[in-house]
Amino acid sequence: MTFGPVLRFDTLPSTSDTAKELARDGAGEGTTVVAAEQTMGRGTRGRVWLGAPGDNLYASVILRPQVGAERVGELAFVAAIAVARAVRSSYGLDARIKWPNDVRVGGRKIAGILVEVSRGAAVVGIGLNLNLMELPEEIAESATSVRIELGRLTDIDEAVASVSGELESAYKIYKSDGFAATLDAWRALEETTGTDVTVRWSGGVAVGRAVEIDETGGLVIETLKGEMVTIPAGIIL
Ligand code: BTN
Repeated sequence: MTFGPVLRFDTLPSTSDTAKELARDGAGEGTTVVAAEQTMGRGTRGRVWLGAPGDNLYASVILRPQVGAERVGELAFVAAIAVARAVRSSYGLDARIKWPNDVRVGGRKIAGILVEVSRGAAVVGIGLNLNLMELPEEIAESATSVRIELGRLTDIDEAVASVSGELESAYKIYKSDGFAATLDAWRALEETTGTDVTVRWSGGVAVGRAVEIDETGGLVIETLKGEMVTIPAGIIL
């Protein structure tokens, strides 16, 4: 099953920029932009997301969920489920989700998700580390790739098909059964609750124990002072 059409490019500044342009021109749901290499890939919190050609999966998918802008961030939960499931089924790796939507293997980040909006459409950007071997120093301890985990090269097109199929299934459930159903699936894959966390957000820094994820996807933390603080999952507009 492919959630398509899939448009492939050798090099793009960012697959999400191209997907936004296509969305503005009326491209339909599931239209997917894939690039072998990004020269100005974006991560969350204004970070860059780069890699050499053939190293990783860089994909951006156009969705039109018909929800208000304040709920578009829910799609990041949908995408995290899809990527975690794809990594589990395609590679047999024990992929888990770190709140709100990092996908990790053995506590190291293997994929990131960035949801942005463009005139009524949502663009779900997915970066999945596949063949990357030499990790930049600043992420050497905190990141991994399928190749590092399995010791073999992986095919990018197969990964696109797997992620895209899982995204289509998870998105169907989101549309038919709502965000509560998405959260149930997300909770089954997450590894954040019950752990000690330090979260930097617009409201400051929260340090404590992650207790639960509320019905909006916010992280409830019991701070060292015993107060309950809820941190919204948020989106980058
Ligand atoms: C993160 O920081 O965790 C999110 C990373 C998202 C990266 C992907 S790669 C495909 C798409 N295009 C971009 O410029 N960013 C996203």
